[in-house]
Amino acid sequence: MKEIKTQPTVFIIYGATGDLCWRKLAPALYNLFLDDWMPEKFSIIGTGRTPLSNEEFRIKLMEGINKFSRSGKVIETQWNLFASHVFYSAGDSYKPEGYIEICSMVQAFEKEWNEKPYVIHYLAVAPSLFPVIAKNIAANKLNENEGHCRIVIEKPFGHDLESAKALNKLLNENYREEQIYRIDHYLGKETVQNILAFRFANSILEPLWNRNYIEHIQISVTEKLGVEGRGGYYEGSGALRDMVQNHILQLLCLIAMEPPASFKASEIHSRKLDVLNAMRRFTSEELRSTVVRGQYGSGWIKGQEVPGYREEEGVATRSNTETFTAIKFFIDNWRWQGVPVYIRTGKRLTESSSLICIQFRDLPHFVFPQEAIDSWQQNRLIISIQPEMSIRLQLQGKRPGLDMLLNNMEMVFDYTTTYASYTPEAYETLLLDTMTGDQTLFMRGDQVEAAWDLLMPVVNLWTNKPSLNFPNYSAGSWGPELAEAMIAGDGFHWFSLPVNGKK
Ligand code: BG6
Repeated sequence: MKEIKTQPTVFIIYGATGDLCWRKLAPALYNLFLDDWMPEKFSIIGTGRTPLSNEEFRIKLMEGINKFSRSGKVIETQWNLFASHVFYSAGDSYKPEGYIEICSMVQAFEKEWNEKPYVIHYLAVAPSLFPVIAKNIAANKLNENEGHCRIVIEKPFGHDLESAKALNKLLNENYREEQIYRIDHYLGKETVQNILAFRFANSILEPLWNRNYIEHIQISVTEKLGVEGRGGYYEGSGALRDMVQNHILQLLCLIAMEPPASFKASEIHSRKLDVLNAMRRFTSEELRSTVVRGQYGSGWIKGQEVPGYREEEGVATRSNTETFTAIKFFIDNWRWQGVPVYIRTGKRLTESSSLICIQFRDLPHFVFPQEAIDSWQQNRLIISIQPEMSIRLQLQGKRPGLDMLLNNMEMVFDYTTTYASYTPEAYETLLLDTMTGDQTLFMRGDQVEAAWDLLMPVVNLWTNKPSLNFPNYSAGSWGPELAEAMIAGDGFHWFSLPVNGKK
């Protein structure tokens, strides 16, 4: 069990008037409060450039909670209790005054509680402000008493290998690694955490979990939505930086890592790092045949016409930014040698779905006559992360009847039918972990750099060689044909769950 109740905590949110705080952080903190996970003594201080009173800030947070919280609209009595812990202090990230004010607020809480609080600095700001704020927190002595101070950094962590290294260096000059929490919200998802449990709490899987039994792996994170007003940010990012460098490579690490010796954060981080280090580096030949990029043009989604990426707000009319990417990776180690790992992600695709498909090797010998085989399919394990939360094992079995006919069948573990309890949002898990000091579900600095190192040849190629055929897929489709061709060339196809997951 996590032990939190005893630790007084001051949670400082930089960029507190922004979208992340409104949509994710405030609802998560509120739900932790409702579920009795917050410490008895805690305060939340929001800070940003906009001048706001405590009351105005509280109302803004309440609106966000009412709109986005899994627990629905606030109940007045509970809200009033929570709101009494919430404060606001305006400040310019570049100037010392704001930090000095926050420092004196923290000291006042310390005096009132008669205990040294843990201080969590959450940087929910544009990446250009990460170094500024991280340095100023330290310069204004808000990082003092090391053991009690933590800093949380949102993605994107760097724009490329060089900038990620520079940011790591700056953070390491002012904080110890144990104080730095690099967020990847995918790691907080219940279904993603379950990958570790599923792999390492079940003895039947490990003997099969290797190149001898697994033919190929797919990780597919598709979204129906477009850039949703975030064109400005996305223009400087694209699918590779936005999804692959972090979320998808983290999923890949969880699937491919060696069994850890313990559940200690550093052990898990090290085993994940081993995977990234073992991933095959791209040669220029491979870059041509195993990496695909795409950008959506206009199209139809569920009967509604939607604009192409280049028509979105904040996007250049001749933008070269990719909104889709598909890549074939290899992991050069004993476990995975020769097993392709296909990943794809994109915006404005047919369905929103995140899943991992593990396809097992074909039978060495068919004992059944051809007519027994109706729609033969190799065994597959499907870990569906969202929207369906399930694990499906696809097998072959006998169809009921007097003939010996074979059919596909599924063994399904579905969260909604198995558990009556609610599923916490990823941010609830991760915020609680920042308060309990558990770094397991966060990214260590060397992991972030290893992920950039792997992808830099692709980043460089795409930056230096603008695509000549963008847009190359229609909104509402499954992405560019080249992505289909890449996997089809190896005799496979992209797997997707039927809508509602029923087969
Ligand atoms: C974010 C990306 O990290 O993840 C977004 O910046 C993306 O572009 C989002 O839409 C997807 O997260 P989720 O939890 O909705 O799958």
